Amino acid sequence: MKVIIVSGSPKSEGLSCSCVEAARTGVLEAGAECEVIKLHNYKLSRCAVCDDGWGICQKEHKCAFGIDGFSAIQDKLSGAEALVLVSPVYWGDITEDMKAFFDRYRRCEATLAEKGGIAGKSVLIIAAPGGSGNGLISCLEQMDRLCSHLRAKVFDFVGVNRRNREYKLEAITRAAFAMVKYISST
Ligand SMILES: Cc1cc2nc3c(=O)[nH]c(=O)nc-3n(C[C@H](O)[C@H](O)[C@H](O)COP(=O)(O)O)c2cc1C
Repeated sequence: MKVIIVSGSPKSEGLSCSCVEAARTGVLEAGAECEVIKLHNYKLSRCAVCDDGWGICQKEHKCAFGIDGFSAIQDKLSGAEALVLVSPVYWGDITEDMKAFFDRYRRCEATLAEKGGIAGKSVLIIAAPGGSGNGLISCLEQMDRLCSHLRAKVFDFVGVNRRNREYKLEAITRAAFAMVKYISST
């Protein structure tokens, strides 16, 4: 079984990166294969909103500008059995990198409904706010909505901040472990 962790963080260390590592540990401990996709490394462009609102994404389920790495990631997600989404909270939302990717991804895949690349697959959703902690819920909600559009199944939500990181990072490892075991048993 392969689990892909999609990280929206532009950073190479910090709270969100610790969340990624905690999830990776749980996936590996449960015996699954794990790949981390750091979206920031791809320099993905935002959706070009082709033509009068829909481009080839609607009928061909691919992006006309997929050469920037989008199509490669789209294929990788299709090949995974489950996902972990990790985003720091930016303005009460997912990061610009994560939004750039999923705005395009959802156009390509949501139109496939139950045949979409991650339709029916389990997703563990993680958001990490900063000092204020404001915007955690709206960030989690954005990822929940993505899953709903993509017909994926939310396995769990975890919000983690600097004050609760010790036990929440442990919870992330346990959630990732439990997700793999759950999928194996069904
Ligand atoms: C542009 C930007 C917007 C942010 N907006 C919020 C916010 O709305 N609420 C919040 O609690 N933290 C906010 N933060 C702080 C990040 O969520 C913070 O970096 C968080 O602790 C994630 O940790 P990491 O950056 O170490 O991964 C923001 C940070 C940036 C760069």
